Amino acid sequence: MKESSHRSTIAVCPGSFDPVTYGHLDIIHRAAKIFDRVIVAVLLNTNKQPLFTIEERKELLLKVTADIPNVEVDSFDDLLVNYINKKKAHVIVKGLRAVSDFEYELQMASLNRKLSDEIETFFMMSSTQYSYLSSSIVKQIARFHGPIGDLVPEEVERALHRKYTVLATPE
Ligand code: PNS
Repeated sequence: MKESSHRSTIAVCPGSFDPVTYGHLDIIHRAAKIFDRVIVAVLLNTNKQPLFTIEERKELLLKVTADIPNVEVDSFDDLLVNYINKKKAHVIVKGLRAVSDFEYELQMASLNRKLSDEIETFFMMSSTQYSYLSSSIVKQIARFHGPIGDLVPEEVERALHRKYTVLATPE
C-alpha cells in the first residue's frame, strides 16, 4: 500500500483567554502533542468587556506556553475562518467542558464549516479536574481575593491580583 505523504497540520486554538486558565493550558498541551503547530489565537473581542488588554492576554499566554516549542501566540480581529485561511491552518481545536458547552459549540462548528468547508473543528473533552473552570469564574473569585492557585498559573494569579488592586484603588 502506498504511504500518503505527511502534510504539516496547523491547528488554531481560538478564544478570549481573559485570562488563560489551567483548563485552556490542558487543551493547548494536549493539542501540541497531536498537531505539528498550534497557534493560540486571542480574539480582540468587541462584544465582551475584557478585564485584560489584548497585549496583557497575549503576554500571559506567551509566559505560560513558553515551555511548549510548537505553540505560538497571536491575536485576530476577523472571522475565525478568515484568520485560519490566512494562517494556512486547517483545524480548530476547542475544549468541551460539559453538555452545556455542546449546543453553542455545535452551532459555531457547523457555521464555520459552512463558511469554509476545508476547515475541521476538533473537540477535546476537558480533563475532569477542569470541567467546572472558566475565565469568568476565576475573575469572580479573584475579585474578592479568594484562592485561585489551583485554577490558574502563578503569573496569571499575580496579574489578577494586580488588576483588582489597581481597580479597587481610588484615583
Ligand atoms: O473564549 P471564547 O470567548 O468562548 O471564544 C469564542 C471564539 C473566539 C472562539 C468565537 O467567538 C469566534 O470564533 N469569534 C470570531 C468571530 C467569528 O468567526 N464568529 C463566527 C463563528 S461561527
